[in-house]
Amino acid sequence: MSDEPDRLRRVVRDFLQSPNSSNNAGERAMVGAVCAALDGCVPSAPAAVPRALPAAALLAPALARIQLPELLPVRDAIAAAAHLFTWRQNPNYSAANMGAAFMAGYGYVEFAGPKEALFHAPEIRVGLLLLGPRLHYPAHAHPAEEIYHPLTEGGLWRRAQEDWRTVPAGRAIHHPPMIVHETKATDSTLLALYCWRGNTVTEAQLTAWCE
Ligand SMILES: [Fe+2]
Repeated sequence: MSDEPDRLRRVVRDFLQSPNSSNNAGERAMVGAVCAALDGCVPSAPAAVPRALPAAALLAPALARIQLPELLPVRDAIAAAAHLFTWRQNPNYSAANMGAAFMAGYGYVEFAGPKEALFHAPEIRVGLLLLGPRLHYPAHAHPAEEIYHPLTEGGLWRRAQEDWRTVPAGRAIHHPPMIVHETKATDSTLLALYCWRGNTVTEAQLTAWCE
């Protein structure tokens, strides 16, 4: 195995453990558990087969917009490992329920997780979400607990009945299990790290709740 996946795992873990990447004790507890699982996971065997999606073409220009010093190791490790990525889309989403534009500009990559990940980790999912310019990832929910860390500026985030908000790059957004949440990319591609723990095998589903 090349050393790019291990470098990526290491810098993501270091970022997650940095003081500013958690807002409170609850988030620190989740991040701590995710980091422990990251430390203990092993390369997937057989290795996941790299797979591109149309949205993958948006990755490099979006990475180039990341300038926050604390995110540069993550940015560079993602760029170095990108040729190994198995790009995926939630099987619950299709052009029929999300629209063709969404499916052309949306994808995610799992660094660690139960399947098609660089590292096999049944109890967590750690990966990268990509959402192309002006796409709206509508209200959805999943049983796993989740923390997002946007890597790019400008995205909009909403959970439950809270107002839409911007979240600076590198700061945490916590979603307890089954909380309804949604995300919008504004004028440029949104990149965000995400962590799941708990039920890692039940994919997100769109919810009936809407504005
Ligand atoms: Fe989520």
